[in-house]
Amino acid sequence: MGGGGRDGWDPVAYLRFADERSRPFADLLGRVGAVDPAVVVDLGCGDGSVTATLHRRWPRAQVTGIDSSASMLAAAAEHAVPGRLTFVRADVREWRPAGQVDVLVSNAALHWVPEHPGLLARWAAAVPVNGWLAIQVPGNHCAPTHALLAALCRSPRWASLLADAAPDPDAVLTPAGYLDVLTGGGLATDVWETTYLHVLTGEDPALRWAAGTVLRPVLARLSGPDAAAVTAAYAAALREAYPRRADGTTVLPFRRVFAVGHRAA
Ligand SMILES: C[S@@+](CC[C@H](N)C(=O)[O-])C[C@H]1O[C@@H](n2cnc3c(N)ncnc32)[C@H](O)[C@@H]1O
Repeated sequence: MGGGGRDGWDPVAYLRFADERSRPFADLLGRVGAVDPAVVVDLGCGDGSVTATLHRRWPRAQVTGIDSSASMLAAAAEHAVPGRLTFVRADVREWRPAGQVDVLVSNAALHWVPEHPGLLARWAAAVPVNGWLAIQVPGNHCAPTHALLAALCRSPRWASLLADAAPDPDAVLTPAGYLDVLTGGGLATDVWETTYLHVLTGEDPALRWAAGTVLRPVLARLSGPDAAAVTAAYAAALREAYPRRADGTTVLPFRRVFAVGHRAA
């Protein structure tokens, strides 16, 4: 199921579905109208592959990717461009901008961080006139990938070890919640949601998807046989929830919430 770094993040497992994961980033950035920003920050940049697309779009900007995971940043280092695209290890909850940030992006990272209203209000305040704030958050805590794992974590067999590692359905706001926070920060705001139908192939594709993300913090609590037992039970439940179709593919619906704010002149 992939090794993972000491912090539990595994760039190899995450990148297995690179196409499916990069599409929402492109959809998000498609609504950002910045022409020639000087400073761009990507909060929760992961392995840096999507951060590198920011550098390609705005080659004159100083682009910084921030992430707390040493293993993700080790993978990101290969994208670095001295003086133009750099990566810094920090917790986004503690991050404070050194100056104005013309484009502030966070893609598929905020769901790991609590208290979005306070955090986003602070980030919105860092956006100057003509600046942009763009976030994308998976909104699938009610989907079987998450609900089945939460039920397993809270089941009598595992609750003592895993109850507080269960995916939290309150981690992500409603689309209207993000609209309120960004407009409250004085930004002209565009919010939408999309459910992507990912067509996956191979054995246990939903499990392999989850292994790069929601299953990661759960397995990090367990060693050897326990991790194998939880993985086997979760895999069986996922096979029922996401059955293989006659053509051999498996469809994984995945809902994501997008919010783009712009501070108009
Ligand atoms: C699912 S990956 C997304 C990476 C990248 N943004 C992308 O779209 O491919 C989530 C990233 O958020 C980072 N992350 C989670 N909580 C964080 C925190 N509190 N501070 C900084 N990074 C965090 C993880 O280390 C991980 O690299």
